Amino acid sequence: MGESDIDRRAFIKQLGLIGQGSLMLSALPWLEGFAADKQKELKGEKAKIAIIGTGSRGLYHINNMLSMSNADIVALCDIYPPHLEDAAALCPKAKKYTDYREVLASTDVEGVLIACPLHMHAPITIDALNAGKHVFCEKSMARTPEQCKAMYDTYKMTGKVLYIGQQRLFDLKYIKALEMVHSGKIGEVVGIRNFWFRNNDWRRPVPEPSLERQINWRLYKEYSGGLMTELATHQLQIGTWALKRIPDYIMGSGDIVFWKDGREVYDNVNVIYHYSNGVKMTFESIISNKRYGMDEQILGHTGTLELAMGKYYPEEPKQAPGIQQFINQIEHKAFDNISIAGPSWVPETASENKGEFVVDNVKTHDGSNTTGAVGDGSIELVSSFCDSVISGKPIPVLVEEAYYSSILALLGLQAMEEHKILAFPEEYKIPYLNHA
Ligand SMILES: NC(=O)c1ccc[n+]([C@@H]2O[C@H](COP(=O)([O-])OP(=O)(O)OC[C@H]3O[C@@H](n4cnc5c(N)ncnc54)[C@H](O)[C@@H]3O)[C@@H](O)[C@H]2O)c1
Repeated sequence: MGESDIDRRAFIKQLGLIGQGSLMLSALPWLEGFAADKQKELKGEKAKIAIIGTGSRGLYHINNMLSMSNADIVALCDIYPPHLEDAAALCPKAKKYTDYREVLASTDVEGVLIACPLHMHAPITIDALNAGKHVFCEKSMARTPEQCKAMYDTYKMTGKVLYIGQQRLFDLKYIKALEMVHSGKIGEVVGIRNFWFRNNDWRRPVPEPSLERQINWRLYKEYSGGLMTELATHQLQIGTWALKRIPDYIMGSGDIVFWKDGREVYDNVNVIYHYSNGVKMTFESIISNKRYGMDEQILGHTGTLELAMGKYYPEEPKQAPGIQQFINQIEHKAFDNISIAGPSWVPETASENKGEFVVDNVKTHDGSNTTGAVGDGSIELVSSFCDSVISGKPIPVLVEEAYYSSILALLGLQAMEEHKILAFPEEYKIPYLNHA
């Protein structure tokens, strides 16, 4: 077993699904490939993969795939020579390309992993699917809603495998937490809060000024939707996953408040996604203050989940033993202002409730570096892609979830840019979930 090989049995066991067989896994259909019988069908084969875009995320995937026993990196492609050479140093046997169309013409390649700037996701994905290749494309799906829809339609038409880099679907703590939502553990979901705070300019060093837009593509509207497509996409998926519905209208406000350095994308955004039952999902991001880090919080009437922290907080925590209550009272000087009799002995403030982890060995990260974080589901996602390339079978749910998270991010951006409350456009609805 290689360093990045997934112990699929242990993965499923951690979810508490082992022994309950296909019944429980059928509630998580995108993970069914991890079942032992499905693994046997793959017969230890390797998927022949080309990496298109060997910048920071591309290199991160290459480093992981090198120690996956179901992956064989046969080709590398990048238009920027230093990045292509970085990748070639890791994969000396892989063929090098500078034009992705030549990669697609190669019969050696079964699947492509696209880690290019956002504006190239749709053209390369659509060309690759039409050329008969299986595709893993990084998130966000595409730069515009029209492109997302065209990618989705091509995926459905060709029947090829398509993965989008939404790794939360393969992150144990998220899977478990969402299972808790669906089993009613937190009661009725009454709100979802997403936030992502950092304190840096989001710039990459540029060796010469003519390369500014190419290297710092995230900062320019032609290539990127800024915080919405780079960060929000991951978090907005939680709304669709938890609520199994899409919002009916969207509003928001975005500005460049602090990093006034020639960039075109907002550095400060607030968006509200309104659902027809009155529930709201919010996304807030500021990149000039990092005090609150990042998280996704699902608020239910009997409990709360902090997904990135992997924690669950019941609304009514179990009462501490008597002596502990007494210590709590002394520590918090509670005798000064409340009666020592009756139920007020257990403090009710959220800060007193330390919560519980939703799975063992929760791995968290502060969201400051999104190239890749240990235990965030990225390795499982790419490994599952390699399995799907070998089997040739698309997996359910993933594309639809990714589609809606990208559409929500782009509609949020549009609402901010146009200063409008947007109704969810009919033409971007796909056959998935409850649209009421
Ligand atoms: N899922 C995640 O958590 C995650 C994390 C980081 C980045 N990403 C995504 O990965 C993608 C790449 O991000 P990055 O940080 O690696 O960017 P990057 O700028 O470091 O790398 C992009 C690479 O693509 C190359 N490129 C540009 N046009 C190309 C073309 N036509 N053909 C071939 N190569 C081309 C560039 O030269 C560069 O080497 C983005 O979509 C980003 O959102 C996802």
